[in-house]
Amino acid sequence: MTYLCVAIFVTDLAQARRDIALAAESGADMVELRIDTFTDADQLRELVSTAILPVIVTCRPEWEGGNSEATDAERISALETVGAAGATYLDIELATLRRNPPPATDRPLIVSTHDFTSRPAKLGNLLIELNQSPGTINKIVWTARSIRDNLEVFELLKQRHKPTIALCMGEAGMISRILAKKFGAFLTFASLSTGTGTAAGQISVREMKELYRWDAINPRTKVYGVVAQPVMHSMSPAIHNAAFSATNYDGIYLPLLVEGSYESFKAFMETFLDFEGLDLSGLSITIPHKENALRYLQERGGEIEPLAAAIGAVNTIVIDRSTGALRLSGINTDYAAILDSITSALGIERKDLAKHRVAVLGAGGTGRTAVAALAACGAGVLVWNRTSEKAEALAQEFNGRTGQVAATTLTELIQSKCDIYINTTSVGMYPNVDASPIDDPAECFTSDTLVFDTIYNPLKTKLLKQAENRGAKTIAGIEMFVRQAATQFGAWTGKAAPRELMRTVIERKLPK
Ligand code: ATR
Repeated sequence: MTYLCVAIFVTDLAQARRDIALAAESGADMVELRIDTFTDADQLRELVSTAILPVIVTCRPEWEGGNSEATDAERISALETVGAAGATYLDIELATLRRNPPPATDRPLIVSTHDFTSRPAKLGNLLIELNQSPGTINKIVWTARSIRDNLEVFELLKQRHKPTIALCMGEAGMISRILAKKFGAFLTFASLSTGTGTAAGQISVREMKELYRWDAINPRTKVYGVVAQPVMHSMSPAIHNAAFSATNYDGIYLPLLVEGSYESFKAFMETFLDFEGLDLSGLSITIPHKENALRYLQERGGEIEPLAAAIGAVNTIVIDRSTGALRLSGINTDYAAILDSITSALGIERKDLAKHRVAVLGAGGTGRTAVAALAACGAGVLVWNRTSEKAEALAQEFNGRTGQVAATTLTELIQSKCDIYINTTSVGMYPNVDASPIDDPAECFTSDTLVFDTIYNPLKTKLLKQAENRGAKTIAGIEMFVRQAATQFGAWTGKAAPRELMRTVIERKLPK
């Protein structure tokens, strides 16, 4: 079992008791009481002897990242006091034990080392020292330099001689806190609520349990994630983890922070794909890595969906190990989501799009995907972009593959009376919710027009409201978002995605 432990800074008896009760209520298995600045022996005895969860007690000195100004002797004495009062474990720094005998206690010791700036230079030596120490449990924590440091943590857990707590701090180290259970750590730390943790990168107990499926994680759990920078705002973990839970699929979906360069992406892929016991099984790829993913798959001889190659962007990697060999494939679920959103709204098939004229606003990543997908179905496409050169280049690239694509001005686009309008610009996106790329909808929208806004925050953009007021049919961005995620889910699991649930998860997370 890997315990879920909440670290609590003790400032007074009542606060500590309240926090222990909150930790128990939110589902923590254990608490760590940080008594750095709280040294009243009688109250400590009372706190520890009446605690409703197992307790680790720690009095962390300033020189090891804590707040205690006490001497080694004073801190050791405080630990002996709480040990005699029945603390479950006592945590003491390896550095303290180098110059002092261990506390006189029958309680098991956690012997710990922390590096708040980087990976310890002599990790191997530290480990030998920890293994030779009088501790029952080893604790080794450092600040991740990049996401790859987590693999070293997992390796330490795999090779452990004693029960081990091994974690990386910082945003890049977050996955080590969640996957601690997969690799059999003694415990992981979580905070009482978001933002109240004792270390950078901590996740709240509730998030750990509800968002990151803590109770379901086991050594065989397959790992998925979204590769991005930044990544913490992504809604994909909420959607995919909810879908895994609803379908009883043994998977966990993580935010994977990988720096923007191709070299960083490649290094991440090479190390994570091959790491034994990690079971990396599928990835969502987003900004700024969609082109990197395509290049990586090309270099590695992966299979690439032809339209994803034509668009120049892969947003999903499928990792298949079922045959014993590793097979990688790259797809773009955004283009299918764009096409399927339109065909299902109109009750037509993709081939019928050849009869339609479509106006695409924007020539960024999503605009490019829309133009390529629609042209491939034979639609006639007009594309406008604020920076006109980008629209012209896009039109030149996709014109005739199969449909006709032409670049135009915004005025002409509005007057073109296309039967489908797709907004792929960020105009109208939260927080600029009062903006619309079209000033006067009367000029272009009628009850026969279909208006599709790829923005999903807010759920109903100003453009969609304008369209509704003109009696036009509309497709909201959430439709595309759910469809692309559902296709990813299907490609990874071979199961039908719980689309309604996925939609509800996004709706709950977005402002109304
Ligand atoms: P995505 O991957 O979501 O498509 P992107 O590639 O950054 O994002 O594209 C953003 C799109 O919104 C571009 O078409 C951009 O126009 P430019 O190419 O001229 O930058 C468009 N866009 C952003 N802000 C805009 C604004 N204020 N008015 C018009 N278009 C805007």
